[in-house]
Amino acid sequence: TVTPEFLVGLPKCELHLHLEGTLEPELKLALARRNGVDIGQNTVEEVRATYQFDSLASFLAVYYPAMEVLVEEQDFYDLAAAYFVRAAADGVRRVEAFFDPQAHTSRGVPIANVILGYSRAARDAAELGVSAALILCFLRDFSAESALETLREALPFKEHLIGVGLDSDERENPPVKFQPVFELARAEGLKLTMHCDIDQLGSIENIRQVLEDIGVDRIDHGTNIVESPALVAFAIERGVGFTTCPVSNSFVTADMKADEIVQLLRQGALVCVNSDDPAYFGAYIAKNYVALVEKADLSLDDVVALARNSFDASWLSDEDKAVYR
Ligand code: ADE
Ligand code: ZN
Repeated sequence: TVTPEFLVGLPKCELHLHLEGTLEPELKLALARRNGVDIGQNTVEEVRATYQFDSLASFLAVYYPAMEVLVEEQDFYDLAAAYFVRAAADGVRRVEAFFDPQAHTSRGVPIANVILGYSRAARDAAELGVSAALILCFLRDFSAESALETLREALPFKEHLIGVGLDSDERENPPVKFQPVFELARAEGLKLTMHCDIDQLGSIENIRQVLEDIGVDRIDHGTNIVESPALVAFAIERGVGFTTCPVSNSFVTADMKADEIVQLLRQGALVCVNSDDPAYFGAYIAKNYVALVEKADLSLDDVVALARNSFDASWLSDEDKAVYR
């Protein structure tokens, strides 16, 4: 049988992790005090009690306001550094982490504070045996012009980034809305990924767009692709990774998507397991593996394949894959 201890020790990559989603109540309170921000709660328990959701909308309504405690470069450093310690304890060797600059620049925080704080923590993560890289995400419920402006502001810091992504509310914000900004990002040498997680009839169109119109390197979530065998075959042929998040999905969609994850694994797709917003959903990456193993009754070979997929879907060089695996 596959024990939780085995799953913790299993070398793995974390490819779907929002740095702002690692804000634990303790740190939120400490940063609020440090920056003199009134968040409305005075104890860790009170903060924790606000971490409750049953949909993406109710999650995002807690998630974005929480970010007001992040102001200085050191705040972003402290948030990411605490996460990398937690990741190392879960057997993570490589992190390709998302962050949402517009959630900060829209409050008047300079993008340099965000990128340089996170990047300094990513560099220091090497001391923990963790290789870390940053993916700048655009908020899809903001305009395409705002995304383009954000990319232009970030390009002077390009050396700190490995790719760009797309997150926040997917409804009525399809991938093609951002086609020009993703084309520019690719021309600048950045990798591309996008969230695709709509749980409704017709959702397959967004998956088709990310694969055929945008030409992403990875899809975040994306498990509903199983509705289209032709698109699954296309993704496998192109080596497109799927960064699934079982525990997060159990909060913001109908269920963990365990059946879909197993179908993709059996069909040979590059599907892997990740944590999304672990401080909010109560599960860092190893717990996500544990939850999926219990739900889908996975074998040792299955979990080893999922962990291997996380390296194959990562943007590490082939040489570095061999080092960290
Ligand atoms: N940003 C952070 N977590 C997210 C999620 N689960 N879905 C969409 N956007 C997000
Ligand atoms: Zn996500």
